[in-house]
Amino acid sequence: MHLDPALLQSLAEKVGTPFWLYDAATLRQRISEIQLITSDGLQARFAMKSCPATKVLSEMHQAGVWIDAVSGNEMLRALHAGHASGHNPPVILYTSDVFRDNALEVVLQQGILPNIGSPGMITQLEAAGYKGDVSIRVNPGFGHGHVNSCDTGGPSSKHGVWFGDLAETAKKITDAGMRTVMLHSHIGSGPRFQELHDNLERLADEFAALLPLFPDLQAVSLGGGIPHNYRDPADQIPLEPLRALFARCREKLCSAAGRPLRVEIEPGRYFVASSCVLVTRVAEVKATQTNEKGQGATFAMVDAGFVDLVRPAMYGSYHGIEVVPQDGGARESGWVVVAGPLCESGDVFTRDDAELLNPRHLPMPLSGDLLVLRDAGAYGYAMSSNYNSIGKAPQVWLEPDGRMELISRRETLEDLLKAEVSEVL
Ligand SMILES: Cc1ncc(COP(=O)(O)O)c(C=O)c1O
Repeated sequence: MHLDPALLQSLAEKVGTPFWLYDAATLRQRISEIQLITSDGLQARFAMKSCPATKVLSEMHQAGVWIDAVSGNEMLRALHAGHASGHNPPVILYTSDVFRDNALEVVLQQGILPNIGSPGMITQLEAAGYKGDVSIRVNPGFGHGHVNSCDTGGPSSKHGVWFGDLAETAKKITDAGMRTVMLHSHIGSGPRFQELHDNLERLADEFAALLPLFPDLQAVSLGGGIPHNYRDPADQIPLEPLRALFARCREKLCSAAGRPLRVEIEPGRYFVASSCVLVTRVAEVKATQTNEKGQGATFAMVDAGFVDLVRPAMYGSYHGIEVVPQDGGARESGWVVVAGPLCESGDVFTRDDAELLNPRHLPMPLSGDLLVLRDAGAYGYAMSSNYNSIGKAPQVWLEPDGRMELISRRETLEDLLKAEVSEVL
């Protein structure tokens, strides 16, 4: 994603800082890469929790990418963006371990395929009079995450039905008058191709062995987890081996079933990570001094914080940072900690998962310069919050021909107070 400093400066003037900037061309490039990977008869879904903006959902709809939704409102947002309801085909899948709020109601009213992650959800569906098809999210006993809290398979994972309990779960589904039409697993596949390869081969073998338990099966989902290299965006996972890997998994599953099965993948971050940046302004640069408690540091204080982009504070995630000098001049390099405005010491973008400051070697910014936090499209705006009552930053959409659109405005105090009531109970 190429960024024109003049464009960033003029946008900062127009919408204020911080703001999110989406590049439609980069998003469409990633969609076309996934289409290449799934060209051998696989179906792609977008794990919309990573970036649920209507614009992004509409791009997926136009490209024929289906949706993995994880809440009642996510299903409704996907419908709002034009995705179809119903089971035939199940364009929207509802994946969850717990029905919350309106989720069960939306599944029932819109005929959406539920992908159940806990056996108790079958009891709830039955009690609600549901007689349709279901999918089961399986915990296959292994998995990987870039940090432990993102590990989505194995004994430490809360997700899915443990593979050893599947026979019992299958019976429970049949006894409730429902059919299992899909088996699903999302194991979080690790940052290296070999690890992804080994995990997916193992998963396909495990699913192939489970097929006899599920005579009504129509589809298998191998989940998301295609890594995005945040440290070196130019060095991404090789596409052709990835296409061949998924094609092999599909062949294995179809030949074990003795009939064609729909094989799905549902990436989130790979679709959207590179298509958006968070642009923030440096308020000032200040320093602490080394003493007996530790080393001093230079802090670039910016107006974005973890209420905007929480990944560094939450997982120690790395985002590339670029300095855009306000006057277009040069800046001398130096080691700098980039920190935000929140009343929290951990409101730092340059840190690791051990909660340590990780000063970054950057052109030393001056007050007024812009800083661009790269690869912020996945779990960026989607995870932003109203902590400290700041209100969410606006989102801007950029088309390849230079047309720009404000797709969400900066939240105001009225937005923050909107749900407050004074109702006697
Ligand atoms: C069920 C499910 N599908 C898909 C994804 C998308 O993963 P990623 O964004 O890493 O591709 C996740 C992420 O945790 C998930 O839990």
